[in-house]
Order: sequence, then C-alpha cells, then structure tokens
Amino acid sequence: MPKASDNSYWTQARITHITDSQWGDTGKGKLVDLAAQHASVIIKTNGGANAGHTVQNEFGTFKLHLIPAGFANPQALCIVGTGCVVDPHEFVKEYKDIVKRVSSPAQFLLSDKAHLVMPWHKVLDTLREVSRGKGAIGTTGRGIGPAYADRALRKGFRVGDLLKKSFMRDFTVELQAQERLIAWLKKEQGEKKTEQFDHKVVIREMKKTREILSPFIGNAYQAIQTANEQKKIIIGEAGQGALLDLDLGGYPYVTSSHPGVIGFMISTGFTPKQIDRVVGSTKAYITRVGNGPLPTELFDPTGEKLREIGHEYGATTGRPRRTGWFDAVATAYGSQTAGITELALTKLDVLDSFETLKICKGYSIDGKEYDKIVDSDPLWMEKAKPIYQELPGWLEDTSVVRSFADLPKRAKDYIHLLEKLVGIPIKVVSVGPSREATFYH
Ligand code: IMP
Repeated sequence: MPKASDNSYWTQARITHITDSQWGDTGKGKLVDLAAQHASVIIKTNGGANAGHTVQNEFGTFKLHLIPAGFANPQALCIVGTGCVVDPHEFVKEYKDIVKRVSSPAQFLLSDKAHLVMPWHKVLDTLREVSRGKGAIGTTGRGIGPAYADRALRKGFRVGDLLKKSFMRDFTVELQAQERLIAWLKKEQGEKKTEQFDHKVVIREMKKTREILSPFIGNAYQAIQTANEQKKIIIGEAGQGALLDLDLGGYPYVTSSHPGVIGFMISTGFTPKQIDRVVGSTKAYITRVGNGPLPTELFDPTGEKLREIGHEYGATTGRPRRTGWFDAVATAYGSQTAGITELALTKLDVLDSFETLKICKGYSIDGKEYDKIVDSDPLWMEKAKPIYQELPGWLEDTSVVRSFADLPKRAKDYIHLLEKLVGIPIKVVSVGPSREATFYH
C-alpha cells in the first residue's frame, strides 16, 4: 500500500479522466492538482465559469473557474477543451492572477472549437430563470445554458472566431441583435427599462480581451493526439458532477454539458478503449447547489453542522449548499453513468465529530423499495424517502492521518460500507485541503 507522500497512484495509468460521481463540489480540484504534478496534459473537459475549484499549492490558494488544475506545473500543458464554454474575460482574469503568483506556470491552450460565453448569454440566463418562476433551475447565472444553446443552434461564436478579421464586426452585429431579443423578453416580463449594454465599453473590453487571448488559441485535438502518440500522461478535469449531466442527470435540474466520460471523449477525441480509468471524486456526505431533488437532504442542525464544518458555500456564487447524508443510491447511479472505475473519497475529516452517521442504501417510493435509481426524472426522485443504515461515528481527528492503516476502525468500516453499497473500490482518501492530507488504499 503506497504511503501518503507516495503519489505513484497518479502514474499508474496514462489516460485518466477525473470527474465527480455526485452533484459537483466534491473537491476534485485537489485531486486534479495532485494528478497534474505527474501529467503532461490536463484538459478541462466541460462547463465554463459555472464550475469553481479551489487549489492549494506552494503558491497559495487559487479559486479557479476555467483554467484546469495543473497550472503550477511548468512541464504541463493546460487545455480548456472543445466541450467547454469560455467566458473570455474570466479566462484573462484567471490567467493574470496565475502569472502574477506562480513563478513558472504551465503552458495554456484554448481549444479553437470551444464556444464563447458572450455578455448577452449571462443576461439571457437570468431572464430565463425568472421566466421559469417556481420551476427555476437555480443556475449559476454565468450564461452556460444560453451559450450551449447557441452551440446546438449552430449560431454561437467559437474561440477560433476571435482570430478572424471579421470578428469585431460580427460581434457588434450580434450584440445589436441580442439586445433586441433581450429588450423583447424584458418587456414580456413587465420591465420598463430595457436598455442593456454600454456598447462602447463592451466593444472596448472585447477588443482588449481578444488581443490577450489570441496567442493561446489553437488546435487542442491535434495537441492531445500528439501527446498521446508520445505516450504522455493525460488527465481530464470535469466540471460539475455526474448527476448534473444534461441527458443522464435529473433533467431539467442539470447543467448543459457532460461531466462524465462522454465529456472527456468530446474534448479529446479519445475512444472508450483508449481511456485507462475514470476516477470519481466522491464526498463522504452529500451536497447540492441549485434546485432539484436531494433525497437525503437535512434541514436540521446536523445539516447545518455539515455545512459549517465542510465550508459548504458555492465557490462560484457563494450560495449555501444543501447538505445531507451520503447517498449510495445516487452515487452509484452517477458513477455508472459517468463511466467511473474507481473512487476518491474526499472530506472524510468533516465527519470526525458526528456521534452517529447515516448512509442511504435505498429509496422508498410509493411503498416500494429500490436499491438503485431506475428513473433519474425529478418527479421520481422527489418522492424518494431514504432508507438508512446507521453507523457509530469515530469521534477522532482524521485530518492528521496519513495512511489508510492509521484510520480509526470505525472510519475504515464506514469506507468499506460505502465501497460495498456503491459497488466501486475507493482508491484515494482525502482528509484535508492540502496535498499531504491524501492517502491511497
Ligand atoms: P448552470 O450550469 O449555471 O446552468 O446551472 C445548472 C445547475 O448546475 C444548477 O443547479 C447549478 O447550481 C449547478 N451547477 C453548475 N455548476 C456547478 C458546479 O460547479 N458545482 C455544483 N453545481 C453546479
């Protein structure tokens, strides 16, 4: 069994996708940061500035949305992949922060085929949420849905368009068209004040951003295929979580992309057989931000305690996250749909002071018991009443533990039961935000 300092786990496979088996926010940024120490290429596979991850390394704490972890590895190439939607201003902000604080950062590449999130997408995101009323999804307001919608409509701007001579003219024409649409939507919603953008400011900012971004734009597919031919270590970093997958998650309470292995394939062009493993970041309890069913949600002081100890506030929006006991049924479904082959259990230490722990091993729906999700439709999930298995807490500080063998017996029992119920081995355990607070099993 490797020791805490022995990160050989991350070199045991050459092509790995790191995703999240739940509803996001499980701490995969830290895992990708660890993996990226040994990787040549790290690809952010899906989503945009809706995702948020925190990375702690020798240069400090970074809260990033677009740039993948691995930015501090001077040997690495960090790619914002084809399946992403890129807010160009956000990319520039993150890039500037990194080059200010990291002595020799990684190289950066923006896929020319990724789509751009434009200023109007953010306005439309908010307007559509308002029009949904009680059925609002609880989006991050970062323009993700509208940007992906334009991509599907084949009318979006791609990152590569920034390099075209006609870009500023096309941008200005579209700005005017979108403004008319926004004015119409606002009127429909009863708003009198409909003017939206200060054209001079928006155009000036876009010109500046375009200049800064241009050198980073390139053919990501080619770069990834070349790295693969050279047998380099390649890591995918998903945004969000498997249960937020556009198609296999609980539509419509989902994001507009694919966090699982499908998203990795879109951003890399790899076929399933080329992918060695998919690591599923899995939190020792559960959280969700935004709306939609969460069967094990706690509305009591225990839920509040999980939120406070686990610092469960959205990295992007600062919203308090909904909290609950570990849901093995939902995690198993997320793992299956995302193609997860092994799990990395995160934030185990958050459970240190709980006298009793519960794990949801089944749902009771309309008098019937289920041990798996048979329908991810929210109407089905909303009716689910959790069936729990209780375990005694370990009531010891695990944040100082650096090997699986040194964990309290009750913590080992908890981990073994999770493995059994989810049906996938837990290979990595994280007991704190630092790189050192990690061991392998
Ligand atoms: P959107 O991706 O902003 O459109 O939001 C759609 C749903 O996904 C909402 O419930 C969001 O709260 C959720 N979501 C988006 N990004 C993240 C993330 O990085 N972590 C967790 N939830 C997210």
